[in-house]
Amino acid sequence: MMDTVAVITGGTGGIGKVTARELAKKGFRVVLVARSADKVAQAAREIAAAAPGAQVETVLCDMSSQKQIRAAAEELKRRHERLHVLVNNAGGIWMKRELTEDGLERTFAVDHLGYFLLTNLLLPQLRKGAPSRVVNVASEASKIGRIDFDDLQGEKHYNGGRAYAQAKLANILFSSELSRRLEGSGVTSNALHPGAVASGFGLNESGFLRFAMTLARPFLIGEEKGARTSIYLASSPEVDCVTGGYFVRNRPRLPPRNGRDPEVARRLWEVSAALCGLA
Ligand SMILES: NC(=O)c1ccc[n+]([C@@H]2O[C@H](COP(=O)([O-])OP(=O)(O)OC[C@H]3O[C@@H](n4cnc5c(N)ncnc54)[C@H](OP(=O)(O)O)[C@@H]3O)[C@@H](O)[C@H]2O)c1
Repeated sequence: MMDTVAVITGGTGGIGKVTARELAKKGFRVVLVARSADKVAQAAREIAAAAPGAQVETVLCDMSSQKQIRAAAEELKRRHERLHVLVNNAGGIWMKRELTEDGLERTFAVDHLGYFLLTNLLLPQLRKGAPSRVVNVASEASKIGRIDFDDLQGEKHYNGGRAYAQAKLANILFSSELSRRLEGSGVTSNALHPGAVASGFGLNESGFLRFAMTLARPFLIGEEKGARTSIYLASSPEVDCVTGGYFVRNRPRLPPRNGRDPEVARRLWEVSAALCGLA
């Protein structure tokens, strides 16, 4: 399995770190893609300690920067001709509208375009690694999401919850459109909801969201449980040939109504490609 390479974004904490650790235990060579040098070095040490003999690599990348995503993809290509798993996991919620260095609204940029651009850049390596898998960590927040093509980046009106729900809906639409585009390639693409998890999620915020997340913690599931569906989709033989699905607690689930329209998925793909400067 050491030649089986799994790339995980946001592996410094939360469900991403647990996912990486469990894939390392299963024998994958894991590559953590993360923005903080200190945090990722610490996570790599913890994973190596938990999975003796595991190969753990790190690549620095702030997923809000398209320049850094391109550089990270180049680095991954330089190191690995073939990739077998890509877990798009890095994400968050921002209650105040912020712009990235590319001039894009942060939630849309990190939670959706980050998945979109990194995956597209790594497709040649994933195709060479086939059978291979793309796993997209979405959310049931997508249920209240809508892709607002007239105001994708909240320029006219911004609400953090709405931006997050839209981005997580975009994860599901991206995942299904990717599976259509990869039909017959041996590369699968599935999305998932991890559950309501007591992770670092929302704790980057200072106001009501942080207060609410702290208050809710005793009622949320732990990170170990929250990572289960990501691990399942990344590694279980049960889903070897399954693609275009949406999973909750290791079971296929019908995606939210707004996540089932192939025309919306196709249009979102085109808009996203333009925003990322992809042909
Ligand atoms: N927690 C929940 O209840 C829940 C529910 C549904 C879906 N999800 C989804 O699950 C995924 C993982 O979240 P989590 O719950 O594990 O939250 P978390 O503990 O906050 O972990 C988020 C991870 O994403 C990374 N990240 C955030 N922004 C980044 C950026 N610009 N560049 C690179 N890495 C970045 C963080 O890195 P740093 O350590 O550098 O901050 C961290 O490793 C997210 O996509 C989230 O939307 C979570």
